[in-house]
Amino acid sequence: MGQVLGLGVSHYPPLSGRDADMANILRGRLADPDIPAAAKDPANWPPAMQAEWADPVTAAARHRAAMRAGLQRVRQALTDFRPDFVLIWGDDQYENFKESVVPAFSVLAYEDREIRPWAQASASAMFDANTQDEWGGGRPNVWGERGDTTRLVRGHREGAKHLTTALLEADFDVAYAYEPLHHPGLPHAFLNALLYLDYDREGFDWPVVCMPINCYGRAVISYKGFVSRWADRGRPADPPSPSPRRCFDLGAACARILKASPWRVAVLASSSWSHAFLVDKTFRIAPDVAADRALYEALVKGDYAAWRNHPLAQVEESGQQEVLNWFVLAGAMNALGARLEWSEFVETWIFNSSKVAAVYAPA
Ligand SMILES: [Fe+2]
Repeated sequence: MGQVLGLGVSHYPPLSGRDADMANILRGRLADPDIPAAAKDPANWPPAMQAEWADPVTAAARHRAAMRAGLQRVRQALTDFRPDFVLIWGDDQYENFKESVVPAFSVLAYEDREIRPWAQASASAMFDANTQDEWGGGRPNVWGERGDTTRLVRGHREGAKHLTTALLEADFDVAYAYEPLHHPGLPHAFLNALLYLDYDREGFDWPVVCMPINCYGRAVISYKGFVSRWADRGRPADPPSPSPRRCFDLGAACARILKASPWRVAVLASSSWSHAFLVDKTFRIAPDVAADRALYEALVKGDYAAWRNHPLAQVEESGQQEVLNWFVLAGAMNALGARLEWSEFVETWIFNSSKVAAVYAPA
């Protein structure tokens, strides 16, 4: 009989950069000529947003400290639990899956892989090719690691194949892969989770099974799963992501399978919550903090019906596409009857998305 530890973190890319650059997604929107001036005028922003914007570098340092505290907490839970492997639910943002194929759910049944996080970052969003040379072919980062830096990411193919097999036998038609398709390393939802859970560079030796979810759905290919100009809105949409209900039910199936397995498995939802750059009702200037607060409250109360019944249209309107990873976690924790041991909602208006970290009691 296995045991399952439920966890959640953010993989927010700017955490790997400098505090002075942390608000750059917002700065990009402010520089978008097609976004109305009134929406860009800080005088019209919520007071909490104005307060952060008054001193964005200090706000960034505070945001980083809060995120690091949560990451430390999650890492400690991993250390205490001693998992056989870590199953990560994350979004593939037009990284490994592109025009050739976009599976709704897939399992990356990789063996151990040596990856070069910063050289391979060009296959993910937020890569500044202009600075590549001075960083030895890599992306600038807060650790000062250059392009030739390597990391061993251990795989657990046996666990990945077992999970895939059991999901298919339970009528969940997931895809699987033994080798990467378009991204030579790991898509950033997975890579950043590993890098951030090893923020102090003590090592991350737990084997990992990545399970990409097509969270971006209608915007995955049409918008390349990332920031786009306001003038580009209304591009013909792609087919949708899987629904919150399906994600929730998939999480429940994963939990049942892992519980019945011989392994101790940590399951990790990797994503921030409402993303400003996806929220058209705020002209992509601010995230939907109220919608996030409502979902978070339901999570803390254990109101799983609210999670399972949450409509996809609501997710899309609130820019919560990436929260679909957390719908999988919620379904898993509900199926196990796991107790939420600790969680925190780190609110921000100017750093693209609020961040939630969570630790459930092993079940
Ligand atoms: Fe993401």
